[in-house]
Amino acid sequence: MSQQTVFITRLVPQKGLDLILGEPTIQAEIWPGELPPPREILLQKVQGIDGLYCLLTEKIDDELLDAAGSQLKVVSQMAVGVDNIDMAACTRRHIPVGNTPGVLTEATADLTLALLLGTARQLVRAAEAVKAGRWRTWEPMGYTGPDVYGSTVGIIGLGRIGLAVARRLQGFNVRLLYYNRRPNPAAEEVGATWVDLDTLLAESDFVSLHFPSTPDTKHFINAERLRKMKPTAALINTARGDVVDQIALIEALREGIIAYAGLDVTTPEPLPADNPLLSLPNATVLPHIGSASITAREKMATMAAENLLAGLRGERLPNCVNPSVYG
Ligand code: DGY
Repeated sequence: MSQQTVFITRLVPQKGLDLILGEPTIQAEIWPGELPPPREILLQKVQGIDGLYCLLTEKIDDELLDAAGSQLKVVSQMAVGVDNIDMAACTRRHIPVGNTPGVLTEATADLTLALLLGTARQLVRAAEAVKAGRWRTWEPMGYTGPDVYGSTVGIIGLGRIGLAVARRLQGFNVRLLYYNRRPNPAAEEVGATWVDLDTLLAESDFVSLHFPSTPDTKHFINAERLRKMKPTAALINTARGDVVDQIALIEALREGIIAYAGLDVTTPEPLPADNPLLSLPNATVLPHIGSASITAREKMATMAAENLLAGLRGERLPNCVNPSVYG
């Protein structure tokens, strides 16, 4: 292989970097900052590269692909979600895009359970009170919330992650409902019942979102659908921020249309500290840490490196999001 250049947009787990840096024919530049490269720097750094290793914090669009140039052979993203990438723009240029499905399923399901339980039982608010010296006594009514055990949980999007969440919830004796466009045969394994969306919204104590962000799913949970939920219910989102109309959600939490929200994802990310969501006592907001287990992140980094290397060799990516580039 002749010498090739790649740009890696952040320091990622070493196991992934080692695979790339161990290739004598590859000259890799790694952006060393804790924050993503500013857009104008990114546009400079990609000029003339053969491969791009990126994260969901980078917008990959026509402008960036033009800046990179026609020699760009592969875009490899260290994430399963690719809503930051203009897939049509990559496909038009015959550039394969890689992602990392599967390896973050269990970590994301763990975090979903943690967020669901933490939202119900006010964990963050209670822990903050202890730290701030506001633990005055044992309070008979303090920090009470709904039971997860024995509740009805509605999963919208019973795919890989939705199923992993459902499996965990079996230990909580919950009634499991799910909504997909078509029933998933694997639902039987977790005892989940396929219902229409209105039934799921009306009957669930917890509604958990597990579907990707696409133009079709933007603001899937809107004011009208929030009004269909129980006033005691909690909305849990570990998918993508823009699948929820956040303005409508803030209103619903303020007005008691629903009781709680547990969000690992928001619009925008990062969420500015003065966003109204952060002053609501019934909203728990995390900084998009669904896949943040050490193992998951190492596997994501490795898988993204393997996609990158395959693309540079002109081979089919092991996990390609736009396989139509192969004709
Ligand atoms: C992904 O891979 O899409 C996740 O959101 C990252 O945690």
